[in-house]
Amino acid sequence: NGEIMNRIFSGVQPTGNLHLGNYLGAIRNWARLQDQYDCIYCVVDLHAITTPQDPSELRANTREVTAGLMAAGIDPKRNIIFNQSRVSGHAELAWVFNCVARLGWLNRMTQFKEKAGKHRDNATVGLYAYPTLMAADILLYKATHVPVGEDQKQHLELTRDIAKAFNSMFETDFFPMPEPLILGAARVMSLRDGSKKMSKSDDSDYSRINMTDDADSIALKFRKARTDPEPLPESTDGLEGRTEAANLLGIYGALADETIQQVCEEFAGKPFSQFKVQLIDLAVAVLAPIGHEMKRLSEDPGYVDQVLSTGADRATQIATPILSDVKKVVGLT
Ligand code: TRP
Repeated sequence: NGEIMNRIFSGVQPTGNLHLGNYLGAIRNWARLQDQYDCIYCVVDLHAITTPQDPSELRANTREVTAGLMAAGIDPKRNIIFNQSRVSGHAELAWVFNCVARLGWLNRMTQFKEKAGKHRDNATVGLYAYPTLMAADILLYKATHVPVGEDQKQHLELTRDIAKAFNSMFETDFFPMPEPLILGAARVMSLRDGSKKMSKSDDSDYSRINMTDDADSIALKFRKARTDPEPLPESTDGLEGRTEAANLLGIYGALADETIQQVCEEFAGKPFSQFKVQLIDLAVAVLAPIGHEMKRLSEDPGYVDQVLSTGADRATQIATPILSDVKKVVGLT
């Protein structure tokens, strides 16, 4: 282990309304990685502006997401937490990568196709170039491992393609190939409709558990969560076609660190009313302290800003020599 340095980089968009899906899908895993790796966690505000943002909301969301990371247990002393725009190397390296990546590569990105939809001509150039900025995020620190969800795998593959192309263009082995870390992330669905992902933009607040929800709202929302009239099954086979049931069991399993099969065995034949009592107890035990800490941090924006500013200084220290080497390799200095 000694000589091989492992460095994690991951990014999260500064969106409002962090919810259980964000927590179980990413943030909780990030907190767990800090014991094994040097981690750099970046609130990607430059990525956020690839679609229009209200400036004061963007500022508030950057703080809220930072508070969410800390409340979930990510220690800003042991790790680096900062927002992307404070380290200018991200934008600089992204430009170099814009001159390495090919239109054909970006044209294949499914996330761009989805986000741009039918109105491609109206999408910003930034939305199109989003993946080259993401590649810059990762490679500016020569990160070796990147925890990503299913939806970001293609962008990480592109990052590797860019690293490879850069290395071969300049006949160097400068950039390491970052490896994906696919962690058992739960896919959390809406509490009102088990076929839709839990989302910050769902009109109904009852569709999601926010990371800032207190014990009472957590209990109320799970009590109102949709189920079906059947009792809980003995095994996962019995969850076929029961999306709402599968979602609640999945949430319980994720919170308890158990497989869905184990949850089925525990509650086989019980009615949902009984299961929900246990689910609420567990969810409140895990989430209420996080919500409480987020609230406390929201009342101390000076502290959050200071974490971001210290994080940016530490990130700059790692990025500066790497960027300066890139400039030498390319012939810019
Ligand atoms: N694109 C990622 C997302 O939307 C966020 C992100 C930006 C990221 N830069 C990154 C993730 C670098 C991993 C590594 O979720």
